[in-house]
Amino acid sequence: MTRGAIIVGGSSGIGEALARKLAADGYEIGLAARRTERMREIGASLPTQAYVATLDLRDTADARRGFFQLADAMPSVDVVVLSAGIGHENPALEWGPECETIDVNVRGFAALATAAVEYFEANPVCASDVDGHLVGISSVASAFGNGAAPAYNASKAFVSTYLEGLRHRQAGRKTDVAVTTVEPGFVDTEMAMGENLFWMCSPETAARQIARAIRKRKRHVYVTRRWRLVSWLLRATPEPLLRRLFA
Ligand SMILES: NC(=O)c1ccc[n+]([C@@H]2O[C@H](COP(=O)([O-])OP(=O)(O)OC[C@H]3O[C@@H](n4cnc5c(N)ncnc54)[C@H](OP(=O)(O)O)[C@@H]3O)[C@@H](O)[C@H]2O)c1
Repeated sequence: MTRGAIIVGGSSGIGEALARKLAADGYEIGLAARRTERMREIGASLPTQAYVATLDLRDTADARRGFFQLADAMPSVDVVVLSAGIGHENPALEWGPECETIDVNVRGFAALATAAVEYFEANPVCASDVDGHLVGISSVASAFGNGAAPAYNASKAFVSTYLEGLRHRQAGRKTDVAVTTVEPGFVDTEMAMGENLFWMCSPETAARQIARAIRKRKRHVYVTRRWRLVSWLLRATPEPLLRRLFA
């Protein structure tokens, strides 16, 4: 039986690497993002069948429509990964970048998380022990407020808390949708803008660890694993000290 995975934000970075990893593991892949040509090129290079949907998360109604069309075009959708996201350094607190971050990372994320759950509840996966698996890419940034990028960190706190809420929502339901929260530290993608940041891993390493979390149906995973320590320290640090680090 063919397994399928939709990756929203599959046109670059972590999403692209995960598409390549899951295709190597035998999944058919649905890629969704704005850069159609780029997704076609990635799709053509995969060893399994690929499907492409052009969508912009800033238009939530259109993005949900695009998601359902993509899902209907695929023989099976077992996994939906929401990797799409943006981040702006915005110390001047201009409204444009803050608004765009909220539109993509919060409204767009929730629009497709709800679409994925709705899809799995209406089309439970037959050949699996769960009825579907939703994976959201949050960030270690969810653990603290950041003066240089307030909307980004807050949007990732939304993503992590929203996914936790979806897990709680599963209790006592007939359909069993697995939900995994992924919190990466630094990953060497377009988002990192060529900076050499500490403990940075390659998108391929991130993809391997996320694929493992999918296989093991983990509720929560840090990428790489050592970021668990950083997240724990950040959550335990008093705000006045955090202010010195992230003003
Ligand atoms: N890189 C890191 O260090 C790091 C650390 C922690 C968490 N993360 C998270 O990891 C996720 C993936 O980021 P990445 O590092 O792989 O960066 P990336 O290479 O820039 O990938 C971002 C993806 O989001 C898509 N996207 C952006 N705006 C969109 C929109 N309006 N509508 C639809 N898709 C949109 C992009 O596709 P198009 O441009 O083609 O639309 C692209 O596929 C993000 O959620 C990010 O917050 C990254």
